[in-house]
Amino acid sequence: MAVILIVDDDAGLRDGLAETLADLGHRPQMAATGNEALHHLEAHRFDAVLLDLRMPGGLDGIEVLRRIRAGPRPPPVAVLTAYASAENTIEAMRLGAFDHLTKPIGRADLKSLLERMLPQRDPLPGPHDAPEPSAGTFIGASESMRRVQKTVGLAADSDSTVLILGETGTGKELVARALHEHSRRAAKPLVAVNCAAIPAELLESELFGHVKGAFTGAGADRAGAFRDAAGGTLFLDEIGDMPLAMQAKILRVLQERVLTPVGGRAISVDVRVVTATHRDLPSLVASGAFREDLFYRLNVVPIVLPPVRERLADIVPLAEHFLRLSARSGMPKRLTAGAAARLLAHSWPGNVREIKNVIERANVFVRGDIIDADDLELIGRKCRCSSRSGAMARMRSADGARQAREGDDRPRAGGLRRQSRRSRAPSQHQSAAPLRKDAALRLRREAGVRNPDTNCRESRRQERGRLKSFNAFKFARTGTRVAVPVVMATTPSWQGE
Ligand SMILES: Nc1ncnc2c1ncn2[C@@H]1O[C@H](COP(=O)(O)OP(=O)(O)OP(=O)(O)O)[C@@H](O)[C@H]1O
Ligand SMILES: [Mg+2]
Repeated sequence: MAVILIVDDDAGLRDGLAETLADLGHRPQMAATGNEALHHLEAHRFDAVLLDLRMPGGLDGIEVLRRIRAGPRPPPVAVLTAYASAENTIEAMRLGAFDHLTKPIGRADLKSLLERMLPQRDPLPGPHDAPEPSAGTFIGASESMRRVQKTVGLAADSDSTVLILGETGTGKELVARALHEHSRRAAKPLVAVNCAAIPAELLESELFGHVKGAFTGAGADRAGAFRDAAGGTLFLDEIGDMPLAMQAKILRVLQERVLTPVGGRAISVDVRVVTATHRDLPSLVASGAFREDLFYRLNVVPIVLPPVRERLADIVPLAEHFLRLSARSGMPKRLTAGAAARLLAHSWPGNVREIKNVIERANVFVRGDIIDADDLELIGRKCRCSSRSGAMARMRSADGARQAREGDDRPRAGGLRRQSRRSRAPSQHQSAAPLRKDAALRLRREAGVRNPDTNCRESRRQERGRLKSFNAFKFARTGTRVAVPVVMATTPSWQGE
């Protein structure tokens, strides 16, 4: 039996958790505020803490977590929140949370959490005396991106070399920046070097610097990127494109933290190295194009960013994020259900960068407040199933998605329709109206969700993801606050509706 402190301002959730804990054979204690929790923790020893993030009364969950972890022999703390975001996930993990989970949490999940947590009753290392991280917008609603956020939080304060892998546009540089911004090195520089963009003969001087007169044209001493990043982080982007000769030199610096400027003497450096590549490093190692010893030296903390087509839950939140960014201080434009379905049906070979570009483009060209499916110019291949799917073809046709919307009986003439949509007054938009069941079913088909009349080879997992994402979007648009299975990584735009 363990003694577990539940900290939550919601009495219903507190009681529910307490009942389940008692049922699992543990002794629950409850606190309704951060202050009350800290009093309990001063007076008693707890085996674990279940901590809500958003609480009234001055002390929010992050601050309570910080104080618990700063104390002697802190118990393991799991953060439970209804408002998971990249920022609070990274911050909680960085501060030493055992895990960061989304409410509501069921009995089985609670049981498994405690099974992992209770063996950790002995204190985990306390937090570092790190500066406050700066805010970086990092959208990630899918399970895989939540895992990435947790890894960033866990790895941020260590000096271990990180290898970020992922297709082009998946956010490798963003992750590198998040690692730096959430680390204790954040006050020092982050220096990024694109190894593919610098000619081989200049790379050594670029990275290690040179002394005056070391070669023709070296008119003055130059520190180089490693020393420019002193105390901070050096981001070696596209490391898979680094010439072999340079790889040997980098290996030495990584091993000994000592470098030799061109024409100069060995100097030690204090720098955290983060690397990234879109290339398949094991294949490069196999073909002899990349040093095996360097690969193992880099692959200390690997972070793999899945392509967007494998994290469907992120697509609509990312699109809405880029709409908010494009709007700057004004009201962001909104996506119709048809537009969301179309986004979900695309395969996104350019990943997040492609979503950003598509949304920016639509934002420029659409004059009204609503972006519909036809406004999204998606170039390149569609999902494998979509090209064979009659439903998808219907969706790509001029009116497919819009016909599915309740009450949409406007004329179908292409040019006129386009013009009228762009100049429509917000009150006329039907997108926020609830979708009728048959219309919703039709949109589901059009989004490529469980399309029964094709031999679709896309995995069931992807289909489930598409359905979840689409449902989340649909509920968002109807303004219904329901427990959708998709966690929005930022405060969803519809929360206030
Ligand atoms: N999870 C995310 N949340 C918000 N914006 C993102 C996310 N991932 C990527 N972006 C944005 O998408 C764009 C591309 O990201 P980034 O440059 O980090 O990708 P990359 O993997 O380094 O690409 P490349 O391999 O082509 O260099 C950037 O504008 C970045 O801010
Ligand atoms: Mg990049």
